Amino acid sequence: MRLTAIRGTRDLLPEELVRWRAVEETAREVFGRYGYREIRTPLFEATELFVRGVGAGTDIVEKEMYTFEDRGGRSLTLRPEGTAAVVRACLEHNLFAELPVLKLYYIGPMYRYERPQAGRYREFWQAGVEAFGSDDPALDAEVILCAYDFLTGLGLRSLTIHLNSLGDEERQTYVQALREYLAPHWDRLPARDRERFEKNPLRMLDSKEEITRALIQEAPQVLDFLSEKSRHHLETVCRLLEREGVPYRVNPHIVRGLDYYTHTVFEVTAEGLGAQDAVLAGGRYDHLVEEVGGRPTPGVGFAAGVDRLLLALEAQGVAPEPGPELDLYIAVIGEVRAEALALATRLRRAGYRVDLEFLGRSLRAQMKTAHKRNVPLVALLGEDELREQRATLRDMRSGEQRSVSLEELIPAVAQMLSHSNPN
Ligand code: HAM
Repeated sequence: MRLTAIRGTRDLLPEELVRWRAVEETAREVFGRYGYREIRTPLFEATELFVRGVGAGTDIVEKEMYTFEDRGGRSLTLRPEGTAAVVRACLEHNLFAELPVLKLYYIGPMYRYERPQAGRYREFWQAGVEAFGSDDPALDAEVILCAYDFLTGLGLRSLTIHLNSLGDEERQTYVQALREYLAPHWDRLPARDRERFEKNPLRMLDSKEEITRALIQEAPQVLDFLSEKSRHHLETVCRLLEREGVPYRVNPHIVRGLDYYTHTVFEVTAEGLGAQDAVLAGGRYDHLVEEVGGRPTPGVGFAAGVDRLLLALEAQGVAPEPGPELDLYIAVIGEVRAEALALATRLRRAGYRVDLEFLGRSLRAQMKTAHKRNVPLVALLGEDELREQRATLRDMRSGEQRSVSLEELIPAVAQMLSHSNPN
């Protein structure tokens, strides 16, 4: 039997990784500009962390977690998201005491047992930020601004930022009103939404079921239930985004699938992705730190789905072409393998990306490989030439050939590469 990658997971192959890394680099660069520092947490945590953090009644905790018992009988879970894990790490290392406003970012794989489809995987990557210590709406706006700079920095267009507020204590009153509105329609609700009605009626607001969607159009809106303070918070976020030129749309149906949100929630969708079009999502979570066992500490953040960002870049035709992976290929003619390796070592230590022939094939076959790998420069090393301590450099684009002494090789390579590279 041939073994394959598990359903919902996939291998990231070298070519794809060039673009993948470009997304990661933009993330690091933009997050760094906003004052975030990197944190890495383990891929698995105590199950309890996500039950308390993400919420026992959420889809994630109820049916999407990879939970297992280790050999010591502890219940562990592959992290389905990063926020709760970052909070746990901050508490464990007392990071909240270090800085009054603590900003951290992460890039890494997350695990959810969802039904795989285009843009939805069971192992997927997130690049996210979390900012702790201030409940000022300016921080919500800054987090959204950071998300916007990140996405536009990647070259994405046709983005929509959906913004909403879930308020704080007033949420319960709203949930009650929503239940009262929907209860008379119980008989018409699809099974999945009946379940949501019982456990988490807010989730019905972003239901994909047609009947529910129609009902929701007329439902009471969370915005009408906001307290003066919550309304002011949302209005300030909106005003600051406008001032900074960030386009957004207030969308009262954005509720998010995690329990920890208070006040601001947002989702960014990109054109060209089909059903799974949320490339980034986040919000404020002022009670999460307490839920996980810390002192009250407000927080706000987001996570972008790296897999989906790449799909969106491709769909929008902005995926950059990967450049050549090598600077130079050494074609080995005759019994000069040791000298070729020595030459490769010299060049590599001088900073060049070099590969060489190991199979003793014909020059023709070697040149074919060099072409295939899109190498700008080939050094031909043969027995006769070596006796004179020389090699031939061939510019693969112009076809120009030059015989150079081995002593002069590095400057000659530098010169020919600067010619063949238009950048
Ligand atoms: P989330 O909405 O569950 O939020 O996930 C954030 C993003 O991760 C989504 O918008 C999507 O791009 C990507 N994503 C989620 N599930 C999958 C999947 N199965 N396959 C591919 N991509 C996926 C959170 O996880 C929160 N922790 C975000 C946050 C950070 N809120 C505050 N701070």
